[in-house]
Amino acid sequence: MSRYVAAVDQGTTSSRCLIFDTGTGGLVAAAQQEFTQHFPRPGWVEHDAEEIWRGVRAVMREAMAKASADVSDIAALGITNQRETTVVWDRATGEPVHRAIVWQDTRTDALVSELAADGGQDRFREICGLPLATYFAGPKVRWLLDEVPGLAARAEAGELCFGTMDTWLIHKLTGEHVTDVTNASRTMLMNLSTLDWDEKVCDALGVPVAMLPAIRPSSHVYGTAKGEFAGLTVAGALGDQHAALFGQGCYDVGDAKNTYGTGSFLLLNTGTEPVGSQAGLITTVAYQLDGQPARYALEGSIAITGALVQWLRDNLGIISEAAEIEDLARTVEDNGGCYFVPAFSGLYAPHWRSDARGLIAGLTRFAHKGHLARAVLEATAWQTLEVAEAMRQDSGVSLTGLRVDGGMTANDLLMQIQADVLGIPVIRPRIAETTALGAAYAAGLAVDVWSSVDELRDLWAEDRRWLPERDRSADYSQWRKAVEKSKGWLD
Ligand code: G3P
Repeated sequence: MSRYVAAVDQGTTSSRCLIFDTGTGGLVAAAQQEFTQHFPRPGWVEHDAEEIWRGVRAVMREAMAKASADVSDIAALGITNQRETTVVWDRATGEPVHRAIVWQDTRTDALVSELAADGGQDRFREICGLPLATYFAGPKVRWLLDEVPGLAARAEAGELCFGTMDTWLIHKLTGEHVTDVTNASRTMLMNLSTLDWDEKVCDALGVPVAMLPAIRPSSHVYGTAKGEFAGLTVAGALGDQHAALFGQGCYDVGDAKNTYGTGSFLLLNTGTEPVGSQAGLITTVAYQLDGQPARYALEGSIAITGALVQWLRDNLGIISEAAEIEDLARTVEDNGGCYFVPAFSGLYAPHWRSDARGLIAGLTRFAHKGHLARAVLEATAWQTLEVAEAMRQDSGVSLTGLRVDGGMTANDLLMQIQADVLGIPVIRPRIAETTALGAAYAAGLAVDVWSSVDELRDLWAEDRRWLPERDRSADYSQWRKAVEKSKGWLD
């Protein structure tokens, strides 16, 4: 049997390839490459899908070389990806017709308001689990069809393909036009109960079903690669947050995790029936194994957390490496009264306000960059508290501990602040690469490297936990005031 399973993690700012040992689940090799972020106008964010495909090939090559592996050593490849980011390409040539529109992009603001004018923001929530928001893929497709001359007619004629990054990469690798249920559940176009495209929503959004991929389970043999990686079995696909839930071993109702990446995403496994949200969360597919019913999750999506640290580095130059934020924040005792609301893409859960914009509240001449650094870290923790509270309201489940993963979990100070703010232990697993691990697990299950999730459960091990040390409830009301002030900025 092949020694390894591999995963491609195509994220918002970088693409990675990780190779895991099939026996221990341990990480054998990893490679990573950043790619260009295009910001053509305020609120617009684009990626070049061809550049991403080149980068993915490069990291696959590099990781395989580091592991001294060739295709025959790899039982299967799983793909996990930044969700909602929208690619449209020509079915005949395979060439993208426009740069990919990234999930953070707010250009569909007016379109979304127009759609909400007839039936409200929750018009399609019963069907797809999502509020009308710029975040999701469906309105982005419609924007492309409206704005790029000739595209609407070509889409109707079946000459164009739509895909999120999983679909784009699987297409490039195997030639298939497919997606998985978790990624499909982020388009607004999939019916959460039938797990198929919903004609009523597709009609309302003006997206022809002819351009949509086939929907498959997350753990499933998607096809065999051609070209450079010929013979490699592609057998798993999940949106990155769903993959992290899977990699964190959250297979039972009530299991939850929070991933700290560009944004942060808290997901709670709610079992085999979708649970609607009254408190501003979204209902999404957690994962689906081949031949089994889908499992669902409630999700609290936060658009900007790690990206705020990058902004401090790239746009203000206050730090030169993201990791420096921790030392800078440690130069002060507290936030000096400052609260930073990073509503760069509006506010997502639980507010869903595309008219919000970022602000720093509470500044005095006393404040300096150390306080700002602390306010930046705290913004992640406060936003997580908001979605954890919404989760308690919606599910009745009070979290007793939170499994965490993602790049920012290396920040010890942030993890301590997070435990203080939530008032519960924050627990990091030994393999912090849970997103890639989840995709590798899904792929491995599809080709019988592992027989069931029970086997995977035993591979999870705790690395470290942070316990609450300080009560921060008084500061939370200041944060909430600042959030209210960020709303309605575009009025
Ligand atoms: O929904 C967007 C999310 O999938 C992006 O994840 O890790 O690239 O910030 P990440």
